[in-house]
Amino acid sequence: MGQVEGKVALITGGASGIGAACAETLAREGAKVVLTDLDGARGEALAAKLRSAGREARFLHQDVTDEGRWAEVVAETERLFGGLHVLVANAGIAVMAAVFDMTLADWRRQTAVNLDGVFLSVKHAVPAMRRAGRGGSVVLMSSVAGLRGSAGLAGYSATKGAVRLFAKSVAMECAAARDGVRVNSVHPGIIETAIWGKMPAGLPDGRNAPLDPQAIAAQGVPLGEPGQASDVADGVLFLASDASRHMTGSELVIDGGMTAGRVGNLAAR
Ligand SMILES: NC(=O)c1ccc[n+]([C@@H]2O[C@H](COP(=O)([O-])OP(=O)(O)OC[C@H]3O[C@@H](n4cnc5c(N)ncnc54)[C@H](O)[C@@H]3O)[C@@H](O)[C@H]2O)c1
Repeated sequence: MGQVEGKVALITGGASGIGAACAETLAREGAKVVLTDLDGARGEALAAKLRSAGREARFLHQDVTDEGRWAEVVAETERLFGGLHVLVANAGIAVMAAVFDMTLADWRRQTAVNLDGVFLSVKHAVPAMRRAGRGGSVVLMSSVAGLRGSAGLAGYSATKGAVRLFAKSVAMECAAARDGVRVNSVHPGIIETAIWGKMPAGLPDGRNAPLDPQAIAAQGVPLGEPGQASDVADGVLFLASDASRHMTGSELVIDGGMTAGRVGNLAAR
């Protein structure tokens, strides 16, 4: 028996990085997965790869900021696999810019994907979980940037911090409704995915260089290296499974120690 055998999981941003790893891990552990993304080619290719490995997987094209499409994606998931039990609201973008240089258009574009998209995911997925009648698990992808500040990431942090408290509030609404739906947030640190190469890297010190997660992790991650997408997917698997049945409104931090403190010899400072 897989850890999520018989569950149906919907994963946004499932064509790349953490979302793709979540799709692979949940499918390997017995879930029927629907992965959605803007990137149709990569999403279709991953779904086909999973099917050829004997898993049940479908790709649906989706922009998470489009409410009309959310209703269609949830209805199509129910039609394909008979219900919905797990939501991984993972799609996200990172715009790096000093807040004083950030355009309102960039602020809104980032907020639309990282926050409006998460709101819409919950609004449309939780009623489907209630219809399925077996409870459910909602996993919202936040970040260590939702737990502490970072120069150059004020807009991103604003969205991820909002996701953290949105998760707790929705957790309380579901608990009050006694619907069996649990809601938790995940807080990755520096994870080696394509997102780093997509950031417009207008750094606060004026440099405009591509970001290298290896170099950033060597400086700022106590374990000394970036995490892999599969490290985050393993945490998502736990939250999606019944092994976490008594957890709701909580935060799963997967950051190699970043938020715990700093390593180093105090006497040498
Ligand atoms: N990589 C990290 O170090 C890190 C750390 C903390 C949190 N996160 C968060 O994890 C999540 C996944 O990031 P990743 O590193 O895998 O990035 P990624 O760029 O590899 O993957 C993100 C995916 O989201 C999709 N996407 C973007 N906008 C979309 C939209 N409007 N509608 C649908 N899909 C959309 C992209 O096409 C892409 O496939 C994000 O929410 C990110 O903020 C990442």
